[in-house]
Amino acid sequence: MTKSEGLSAILQAVMRNSAKAAKDKYYPRWHLAPITGLLNDPNGFCFDGKYYHLFYQWDPLSCEHKNKCWGHWRSKDLITWQHQPIALLPDEFYDKDGCYSGSAVIHQGQLTLCYTGNVKFDDGSRTAWQCLAVENQRGGFDKLGPVLGLPEGYSGHVRDPKIWQHNDKWYMVLGAQTLDKQGKVLLYRASHLYQWQLIGELAGSHLGGLDDAGYMWECPDLFELSGHFILLTCPQGIKKEQYRFLNSHSSAYLMGSFDYSTLQFQHGDLIELDAGFEFYAPQTTQVNGRRLLFGWMGVPDGEEMYQPTIANGWIHQMTCPRELQIREGQLYQQPVKELQQLRQNVQYWQGIADDAPEINGFCVELEVELIDSLLIQFSDSLELTIENNQAILKRRSVKNGEWQSRFWSGDIKHLQILCDSSSVEIFFNHGLGVMSSRFFPSAKKIINFSGKNTIKLTTWQLNDAL
Ligand code: FRU
Repeated sequence: MTKSEGLSAILQAVMRNSAKAAKDKYYPRWHLAPITGLLNDPNGFCFDGKYYHLFYQWDPLSCEHKNKCWGHWRSKDLITWQHQPIALLPDEFYDKDGCYSGSAVIHQGQLTLCYTGNVKFDDGSRTAWQCLAVENQRGGFDKLGPVLGLPEGYSGHVRDPKIWQHNDKWYMVLGAQTLDKQGKVLLYRASHLYQWQLIGELAGSHLGGLDDAGYMWECPDLFELSGHFILLTCPQGIKKEQYRFLNSHSSAYLMGSFDYSTLQFQHGDLIELDAGFEFYAPQTTQVNGRRLLFGWMGVPDGEEMYQPTIANGWIHQMTCPRELQIREGQLYQQPVKELQQLRQNVQYWQGIADDAPEINGFCVELEVELIDSLLIQFSDSLELTIENNQAILKRRSVKNGEWQSRFWSGDIKHLQILCDSSSVEIFFNHGLGVMSSRFFPSAKKIINFSGKNTIKLTTWQLNDAL
C-alpha cells in the first residue's frame, strides 16, 4: 500500500467500526485494545522522561494477521492512555508485508524505533530487514530504512529487535531460525545505531543444555534484574508437557548470568512466564529502577479467529502493565501499583467459601487469602479450582464449547485477580505464578465462590480507564 492509500483505508475502517467495538459487551473497560481491527504484540515500550510510550502491532483493516502497522499510545501514569498518530505503515519495499515487532529507545533526545520490515515473495519464502525510524515534529515517524539484513545461515524468519544501551555500546537481541529450523536468539552489538555486528547465538534450541526447544524463537528481551539476567522469549514448537507449555506457542524465560566482556549467557531451564490461555510476546522497559512489562493477551493459534468480538470488528487486548521483581532468586510479576488508583468500593469478607457473597460484574479486583481448596466460577465460561497445591483454570473453548484446562502448581496462599469485561489475570502468591486468559461469557456477569474452607476476601470495583 502507499502511505496515502493506507491512511485513507484506515480512516474509513476506524469511522465504520470504532463505535461498534466500543459498545461491544466484551470490550475492555480498563485494558488497552484496538479501536478496530486486530492488535497483537506490544512494541517500543519506553519512557521519555515525561510520557510512557506503548506501540503495538495493529492490523486496522481486518481481524486477521495482515497489514501490520505500528499503533501508538502514550500515558503519563500507566492507567489512562491517549492515541497518537499511527507510527508505521507497511508502505516501503523493505517492509511491504508488515512493519513487524521491535523496540524503542530515546537516542539524542529523539524517540527512535527499531523494527522488522517483513517482505514476502511469490514462492512463499520471505526476507527481513531490521529498520529504524525517528519521531518527527508532528508526532509521526520518519523511516530511516534498513540497517541490517539477514545473517548468513538463517531463514527469512529473523525478527523482533530489542535494543538497549550499555556503557557506550548498543546491543540487540533478535529472534531467529536456522536453515535447519531451530529457534535461536542472536546477539548483535554496535557503536552507533546504523552499523551492527553479529556476536553470535545467545540462546536457543540445542544450546546451553536445552534440547529440541522449538523451530523459531520470537520476541526476545534480555535485561538485568537484581543481579540476575533474564531472557524473555517466545519459543514456537516446543513439546507440550502434561501441565506446561500447553498453548500452541508459549512465552517463557531463561534466567542466568550474562557477561558484557565475554558476551556469554549462562542459564537454567526454560520456565513458562504465564500459564494462562492467552499471553504472548511480552516486552519490558526499565523506568526509574523498575522493570515494567506489557504482554499481548492473545496467542497466534487457530482458535483466535473464533472469538466473538470479530463480529464487532475488533480482536485482542493487552495485559495490564506489570512490574517484574526477583525475590529469593525467583521471578515475580505483579500488576503495577499505579493500577490501585482504579479501585473503588472496597469490601471485606471472611468465612466459609460456600457462604461468600457473589460478585456482580467483571470490572473488579479480588484478593483471596487462606486458601486450601476453592472454586471460583466466572459466569458460565471460566472456572478456577484450587486443590492439592494445584490451580486448574478451565475455560470453554470458543471454537467448540469444550472445556480446556491450564495448570499452575504451588502451595497457594494468596490470589490477586484482576478482571475486565472479557479477561482475567490471576496472580498466585504475590506474583510467583500468573495465568492470563480471555473469556466470553454468554450468561450474566457473576463471580461465585464455593468450598468448605475459610477464606478472607477483599473486593474492589474498578473504574473505567478509557
Ligand atoms: C509475535 C509475532 C512477531 C512478529 C509479529 C507480527 O506475535 O509473530 O514475531 O514480529 O508477531 O505481527
